[in-house]
Amino acid sequence: MNPLNHVAIIMDGNGRWGLKHKNSRNKGHKAGLHTLEKIIKESIKQKIRYLTLYAFSTENWRRPKKEINYLFKLLENFLLNKINELHGQNIKLKIIGVKNFSNKLNKLLKSSEKKTLKNTKLQINLALNYGSKFEILNAFNMINKNNDKINEKNLRKHLQTKNIPDPEILIRTGNTKRLSNFLLWQLAYTEIFFEKKLWPEFNEKNYINIIKKYKTIKRNFGKI
Ligand code: IPE
Ligand code: IPE
Ligand code: MG
Repeated sequence: MNPLNHVAIIMDGNGRWGLKHKNSRNKGHKAGLHTLEKIIKESIKQKIRYLTLYAFSTENWRRPKKEINYLFKLLENFLLNKINELHGQNIKLKIIGVKNFSNKLNKLLKSSEKKTLKNTKLQINLALNYGSKFEILNAFNMINKNNDKINEKNLRKHLQTKNIPDPEILIRTGNTKRLSNFLLWQLAYTEIFFEKKLWPEFNEKNYINIIKKYKTIKRNFGKI
């Protein structure tokens, strides 16, 4: 059976779910939070060490201001209400991406990271204002600045996922088969699962089925 340490998820389909069921994209984002909580709980049950969640891409700034503001308000409330609970469950929160939000949100993100820094059960990497191309270019610039050699080891040192093993599983919900600038380096050998269900419809059962399927895959890494 394949070992499993790290699951990455592109949580897509909130907007479509919201429009269909509540006539509002934003209500879909709100509903998506329930799925998020379920998947975090199940990840702990499955003894997964790292869960990386794509919540806002560098390209998502192209959305209407109203939706962007709603998303960040939702995140702010989620952290205010849930950070103590997450901390109590021994969960570590790490933000990947560039924190250039309002002062209030930047502070809240930093304090949430600080509070949970020493936790060891599950590390949640929340990708916010994250773009993989930027991350990789930034790593090259850092290598250059330090006058280091360009090699895999030095590049990894400057990725936001440094010291974290690459994901064994990537899940994208929402019936779309693309990576949308997510973890392009780290996904080089990841098993990819595209799910038809929209994120608010996705549940523990679907998640467990993917994990079961993953465990039986023959992973070659170039060998036979
Ligand atoms: C993903 O859901 C969440 C974010 C990008 C913030 P979408 O908002 O992209 O939902 P669809 O794809 O439009 O349905
Ligand atoms: C990817 O979803 C980003 C997140 C889930 C946060 P998008 O809905 O933004 O991706 P595209 O634009 O359809 O590729
Ligand atoms: Mg989408």
